Amino acid sequence: MKIQVPASSANLGPGFDSIGIAVSMYLHLIVVGPSNEWRVDHQLGNLPHDRQNMIVKTALKVAPDLIPHHLKVESAIPVTHGLGSSSSAIVAGIELANQLAKLNLSDETKVEIASQIEGHPDNVAPAILGGLVVGTEVNDHFTAVKAPLPPFDLVAYIPAYNLATKKARAALPNELAYHQATHASAVANTLVAALFKPDYAVAGELMEADEFHEGYRAALVPELAKVREIAHDHGAVATYLSGAGPTIMTLIAHDKAAGLIAALRNDHLNDRIEVLHPDQAGV
Ligand code: HSE
Repeated sequence: MKIQVPASSANLGPGFDSIGIAVSMYLHLIVVGPSNEWRVDHQLGNLPHDRQNMIVKTALKVAPDLIPHHLKVESAIPVTHGLGSSSSAIVAGIELANQLAKLNLSDETKVEIASQIEGHPDNVAPAILGGLVVGTEVNDHFTAVKAPLPPFDLVAYIPAYNLATKKARAALPNELAYHQATHASAVANTLVAALFKPDYAVAGELMEADEFHEGYRAALVPELAKVREIAHDHGAVATYLSGAGPTIMTLIAHDKAAGLIAALRNDHLNDRIEVLHPDQAGV
């Protein structure tokens, strides 16, 4: 048995904690077979190899009676880099329980379980459903709605340093004044309308007009302003901080991606760059 879960890029600017897109970078979970105890082979640094592993913990939350298995994880998703690595592990765990225990969970139920664990649906919902997803919690349950798939490449500029979500969230204010909150929300609302129309000229402008988090996090990701400036010069739709960072994501037409990458390199922006595509399938 093999389970494939895509990475995801959350926020798209003002869609803080609610908008995300699944991208073509994957976690693969291979079920080797039953075992005396849970064993998770992986090469992902310090993450646990036993039942404390997030994938196993999640699976046991969903199906507490699962017998132990030997698992292998191969993931191209860098940890603590704003590409939804922990969400991909949660979604893999839910799908593992779903398949081993033959639960036949609906997508809605998977989104509900995963969002409850993660606290917000912006990474887990696209990782489950594929594509671009807008979602939130209301009346004690999570709702997620799929938007049209943007027909662009996603150029991920992935700085070498880690940025823990906890640290990036600690940079945010505890409160926003009423007039600030209503304007920030109006920007996000209009972005959603543009994404569903779709009108990517309007969406691109709004994706760079976030008032909820990027301004507060800018000092943690000093490359953002430069990448955005170069991306503008090369005809990008928009550049935003992917999730809690430090990855910087640029939406750009396929035939312009190579020019953007050459320009970033020319400006001595030498970190890892991946050209991704929206993933349509989800888990
Ligand atoms: N929306 C979240 C954030 C994504 O920006 O903090 C990371 O969990």
